[in-house]
Amino acid sequence: MLEDIQGQIAQLKRDFNDKFDTISTAEELEAQRIAYLGKKGAITGLLKSLGKLPIETRPQAGQLINELKNFAEKRLEDFRDILAEKQIENSIRNEGIDVTLPGNRRPLGRLHPLTLVLDEMIEMFIGMGFSVADGPEVETDYYNFEALNIPKNHPVKDEQDTFYTSDGFLLRTQTSGVQIRTMEKSAPPIRIIAPGKVYRSDEWDATHGPTFHQIEGLLVDEGVTMADLKGILTVFAQNILGNDIEIRFRPSFFPFTEPSAEMDVQCFACGGKDSVCPVCKATGWVELLGCGMVHSNVLKNCNIDPSKYSGYAFGMGIDRIVMQRYAINDLRLLYENDMHFLQSF
Ligand code: DAH
Repeated sequence: MLEDIQGQIAQLKRDFNDKFDTISTAEELEAQRIAYLGKKGAITGLLKSLGKLPIETRPQAGQLINELKNFAEKRLEDFRDILAEKQIENSIRNEGIDVTLPGNRRPLGRLHPLTLVLDEMIEMFIGMGFSVADGPEVETDYYNFEALNIPKNHPVKDEQDTFYTSDGFLLRTQTSGVQIRTMEKSAPPIRIIAPGKVYRSDEWDATHGPTFHQIEGLLVDEGVTMADLKGILTVFAQNILGNDIEIRFRPSFFPFTEPSAEMDVQCFACGGKDSVCPVCKATGWVELLGCGMVHSNVLKNCNIDPSKYSGYAFGMGIDRIVMQRYAINDLRLLYENDMHFLQSF
């Protein structure tokens, strides 16, 4: 008799397990529970039939049926947990959020080498008492040329050909026009720098482009001399390019300064040792800036009395300085936005 019960229990357990493989929803799970453990369920029925067994087999049969009941309850319970987890997973998937994925990292930006060097230069000049002045990139012929002592048909304008608009404006070729705008508005002592973009109708090559950056300097006061100019530019070069940088001043010509000079620095690429260096053309020197004492005509154009005041001015290409500073041998790298290049700063 006990064997019969044992056989029934084993069969029931197999059925119960087989059916489990087909369950995938809470409803199906509940139906399974009712079919086996409900009032009229198969396991419940087996328990009820216990009373019909001979007394001596009842305790052992009862224990076996209870084990089956416990097994079934545990499996139903476990599966309920699994279904609940699946439901959460499904709803996350349907909402399109997978909280286990790593987040979208935003790459940290950094400053362009031009901005890095410009910021450093501005800070340095501010430390020496200069303030920052600004002027428009779309200029008039007057501010860009005429007021700077460059008359209409002056040959210097050939070197600074630019983009003209049909209504008489031009894209400024130099930041020097800010000198005029500043002197018109304020009386000496004047001490400004003017950083900004300038334009020329130049083709791209390793050292030229149609757009580049300049920083202008102007100081007007009583008793200003060329020695002051040399002093400030020497301090500037040593600060930005290193204390042991070799510099030299060369006489030059600019219509808005008299006397005029250019300042060169020793070549960063070859140090003057390469007889075919493309950067310094084998001279060992790289031209960095133009400078001089503000021309009396320019002071007069701005209603400043040249018998009382004198001043110096300088103007330099920031791009050249960035190239010198980081030993970059092609200007175009600064404008191509190549991420590998930019990330190296
Ligand atoms: N504006 C000149 C240029 O673009 C540079 C320059 C030379 C500026 C001499 C000055 C200066 O202020 O005094 O080539």
